[in-house]
Order: sequence, then structure tokens, then C-alpha cells
Amino acid sequence: MSSQQPRRALTAEPTESLGGTASVPGDKSQSHRALLLSALAIGEARITGLLEGEDVLRTAAALTACGVTLERQGAGSWRVEGRGVGGLAEPAQVLDLGNSGTGARLLLGVLAGQPIRAFVTGDASLNRRPMRRVTDPLAQMGASISLRAKAYLPLMIQGPERLLPILYESPVASAQVKSAVLLAGLAAPGQTGVIERQATRDHSERLLRYLGAAVTVEELEEGRRILVTGEQELLARDITVVSDPSSAAFPAVAAASLPGAEVTLPGVGINPLRFGLFESLAEMGADITLANQREVAGEPVADLQIRGRRLQGITVPADRAPSMIDEYPILAVAAATAKGSTRMQGLAELRVKESDRLSAVAAGLAANGVAVTVSGDDLIVEGADGRPPGGGLVESQMDHRIAMSFLVLGLLAERPVTLDDTSFIETSFPGFVELMRSLGGRLESPA
Ligand code: S3P
Repeated sequence: MSSQQPRRALTAEPTESLGGTASVPGDKSQSHRALLLSALAIGEARITGLLEGEDVLRTAAALTACGVTLERQGAGSWRVEGRGVGGLAEPAQVLDLGNSGTGARLLLGVLAGQPIRAFVTGDASLNRRPMRRVTDPLAQMGASISLRAKAYLPLMIQGPERLLPILYESPVASAQVKSAVLLAGLAAPGQTGVIERQATRDHSERLLRYLGAAVTVEELEEGRRILVTGEQELLARDITVVSDPSSAAFPAVAAASLPGAEVTLPGVGINPLRFGLFESLAEMGADITLANQREVAGEPVADLQIRGRRLQGITVPADRAPSMIDEYPILAVAAATAKGSTRMQGLAELRVKESDRLSAVAAGLAANGVAVTVSGDDLIVEGADGRPPGGGLVESQMDHRIAMSFLVLGLLAERPVTLDDTSFIETSFPGFVELMRSLGGRLESPA
């Protein structure tokens, strides 16, 4: 696993052109949910297109430790024997979710609904991230949780004999918080709900419905209320995971920002609650076509056809943040090549991701000669109207998306960009380096 893997430095060299077709691995959000919900269902499910990145493999290992039978049958193809809602066994070892906030927080929702005791930890990055956002509502539902320093992993969680349903209004816009509460709600009597002021990704709701759960979504004057009916069994069904738009973002931005590039990325998820980056790129003047739109296991997908051209700076409004929360680092790279400045507003949540991404992006851009300002929770990037200087050394800070974003910057810059450690890319995008090379991206081990 990456926390023990050797550090791997990598240099991205200025690249003249990018072209070709490449398949991006499965969606990380859907992959975690496919495993967790299949484990809680009745019957057997075959999951195809599962992301076999380290984050998802950690979720699989945690479920195995809780008595779930999971069998890998081929690349991305897994068979899961469901144990029913409330059917997990008490794990004999500590559940280590590695670098994965999604794995840890969604699993906590599941564990709250089991009358068992479990110990949960992560790597140095995950053990610094806030957990109260999920443990507070789960405690309100009756789970006993003891956190390190009252806020962090490692923690101990004990589910009660009977959970209480709640209606929870989350103070943060977070699909992880919403999902943890809904997953716990499967084990509670009556209806458990979440009120969200800003809509966040709805993969949990879609997959719950796909497996037969009663989920209702009601639009409110401000936001929406999502209710799940508990104490009803889920029925296992085969699930196909679509290509991850958050991973597609890296080759997509590289191609969209490089005049002359022509790249196709087939079968990418285009869920509107994940699509903020592509909306922003369109406003910047990017040439991206959504071809062959279709639906796969309740999720919309398309083939992305991208042609490179010079982009224009824009203002990205704060209310777009939930639909592109993981894509700000790579949008900042697109902004660095654009004409004019780009202002990204309302990025407070970026400070509590795998790293403090607001600082990491600002530091990485500054190290590469890009004029960048952090003003409150806003990030302002002055575009170079072409290749930014580059030539810097960037610290990835145990953050896969920081590593991939700055490798893309190196392809688009005047001089090479070196990342101190790219091993964490394995958490979400195994094969990233090979995929970028297959499109013509020059990624090399530093001399
Ligand atoms: C995710 C939700 C997002 C995102 C993460 C995946 C999910 O986190 O950053 O990579 O799968 O629910 P928040 O919902 O906490 O912002």
C-alpha cells in the first residue's frame, strides 16, 4: 500500500502534442459504494469496471475483515456475497482505510448499523482529516464512538442494538456525510434523512434505488431533503462502474489546454453533480463534445471528445464547488495556461482533503512561476496565455490529485516540472503514467 510504498519522483517534460483514445479507470465514488452496498444486500453481485486503486482495495479489505466474501474474478471484475443489512461480523483486526476519506467515512456509516465493535485508522494524511462531520450524526443515531483527540482517527465505533432514525442537516456540503447517514439509516426503523443546502454527488441515492431501497428526494426552497426507509433488505444486482470523471479530468485538461491536441476518453460518467469542471472548461472556451450519451447502471455516461485550444480565464462561482470539489487543482492548471485571470471562489473545503489543497496548489503554481493569490477562500490564478514557465519542484503531500495536476502542468509548461513523490497516484488512478504516455505525454524518471 502506498503509505509503505517507496517514494517515486517523476518529471513531466514539455509536450508538443497529445492525441489518441484512452480508457480511464472506474469511478472511485461508485466503486466504494458498489462494494459497501453489495455487502449489505441479500444475494450475490458481480461488479465490473471496479476501480482497483488502493483506496477501493482498502474498502474491500475492511469488508473482508468484517466477514464479507469478496472474490476478484478478473481485471475490475468482483463477486460479492451480501450479508444483509446489519449482517457484518466483528472484525478481529483494526480496519485501516489508508489514504481514503470516502472509504473511512462511508464505512463508519455502515458500522454504526452493526451491533459490533470496530477500530478504524488510516495513514498520516487520513488521520489528520476531520471525522466529527460523520461521527456527530452517527452518535446522534445511537452509535458509541471514541475518537483520538475527540476529532480524528484512529477511532473505536460500537453500533447499538437499535439505531435511531434522524433528520440531519449537515453544516458542510459533503456527499460523504450524506452517504454515511443514509447508510446508517438502512439499519434504523422508519425514515432517516439528510437536508443538504447545496446538492452533492448522488451516487449513494442512485445505487440504493437500483438495489431496491425506498429513497425519496424532495426539493426545498433552499436545497433538498433525502430520505431512506430503513429495516428493508437490499437486493443484490450486478453493477457496472463507469469511468471516473475526476480521473478523466487530468488527460481532459491536458488536451483541452494544448492547441492541436485531439483526445477521446470513452465511457466517462457525466452525472450533473460531478460535472462542474466540464462546465467551467466550457465557459473557458474549451472544445469538448459529449458523444454517444447513454445510461449505465443508473448513471449517465458519454465519450468525451476533446480538442485543444487556448482557454480564457473565468470566475468560478462558489455554488459550483460541490460538483467539482476534487477538480480545483487541475482547473488551476488549465487556468495557468489561459488568457487572463481565473478566480475560483469558496474553496474552504479544499483545506481538509488529502492535503490542504488550497495551499498545495498555490505553492505548486508559485514554484513554477505562475502568479497566484489566495484571498480568503478564493484562489486567483494569472494565466500565461500559453505555456507557463514551469521548472519547479512540487511536493505532492501524500495527495494523488496534487501529484497528477502538477504532472499535467509540466506537460503544458516551458520547462519540466518534477514531483517529489507520485506513489499516491495509485490510490485513485492506477495506470495514470502509462495512460498519459500513450497519449504522447512525456513523463520520465528524473535524471
Ligand atoms: C466523495 C465526496 C467528496 C470528494 C471525495 C469523494 C464521495 O468529498 O471530495 O473525493 O465519494 O462521496 P465530500 O463529499 O466530503 O466533499
